[in-house]
Amino acid sequence: MSSVTVDPSGSVLTLDTANGRHRFHAIWLRDNAQDAETRAPGNGQRLIALRDIPAETRIAAAGLAADGSLQVRFAPEDKTVRFDLAWLAAHAYDRPAPQARGWLPDGIEPWSAGLMDNVPCGDLADLRRGGAALQRWLGQVVRYGFAKVVNGPVEPGALFRIVDLFGHVRETNYGRHFEVRTEVNPTNLAFTGLGLQAHTDNPYRDPVPTIQVLYCLESSALGGENMVVDGFAAALRLREETPEGFDLLADHCARFEYAGEAGVCLRSRRPMIELAPDGELIGVRFNNRSCAAVTDVPFEKMEAYYAAYRRFGEIIDDTAMEVTFRLNPGEAFVVDNTRVLHARKGYSGEGTRWLQGCYADKDGLRSAHDAMTRAGVLDAAE
Ligand code: FE2
Repeated sequence: MSSVTVDPSGSVLTLDTANGRHRFHAIWLRDNAQDAETRAPGNGQRLIALRDIPAETRIAAAGLAADGSLQVRFAPEDKTVRFDLAWLAAHAYDRPAPQARGWLPDGIEPWSAGLMDNVPCGDLADLRRGGAALQRWLGQVVRYGFAKVVNGPVEPGALFRIVDLFGHVRETNYGRHFEVRTEVNPTNLAFTGLGLQAHTDNPYRDPVPTIQVLYCLESSALGGENMVVDGFAAALRLREETPEGFDLLADHCARFEYAGEAGVCLRSRRPMIELAPDGELIGVRFNNRSCAAVTDVPFEKMEAYYAAYRRFGEIIDDTAMEVTFRLNPGEAFVVDNTRVLHARKGYSGEGTRWLQGCYADKDGLRSAHDAMTRAGVLDAAE
């Protein structure tokens, strides 16, 4: 049986339901009124600003209506609003403060080499039909920060078909897309196809490109496997091993720079491990090639900062953290570039490798996934 009480000042309402006890403030409830004068019935956009709500707003009366909704009368407006209990339960904020620094929200799963047995993957033809297959694949990118695509056409520009599944290309000074061609010839050092350390792309941009697509068109050389590392899992391992090291990389900005072509001077000042103000782990930047001189760490902490940076790199290089897979022509992978690092292994033997890459936006991918989830696509298809 649900019940509602209001404190004598009218500033706090306590709601007891089957979902537990939650307190709500008068000003919060008033601001979140869902009535047609406060929210546009069609698109749900708020029609008023906070300045339109009296600062002295309080609850004059509250009770549960016969239909099970919560009815609240606000003073001094003398305005009565109905609240859906399920909506209130879903938006309750009366809960313990977030856990340790580096927490992850539900639905984000850190991983290491064990994921190799079950690499997230979708068939391009299935994905292009939309529906449950697409929703599931998008959900894997959200959950793990990467996924493969197989059975695509072997033709230049096919990578855009992957972006079309969820959003739009983010064009940069490298163009709408970029070519990654490697000629593997062991007699010439410049083309030996050396492996690259795992990295996130373009940390010198602000914001960084949030999604990267790499699409294979040619792969005749032995080796050259692709490799991904979960930057979140690496950061959490660092926190476990050395909480001070984690804090150093989270609390101080690194600097990244790229000025390798005429007319371009991209610079950013951001931490390698990025946390939200409440400690949520929200991003990782790691790229040895574009790391600029770090000048924002206090003198007395610089050596410890470098030790943490070194250890973070060692964790990233640990094969126990990596998932490797080979991309054949017509296959691709998508990474969340704010989280998952990628790399290419070295080659053995001769041959060529040709990939096309492009960037896109994670908010569009999440939006496509969440809209499908809201619409119940998976349920309907199963
Ligand atoms: Fe890269």
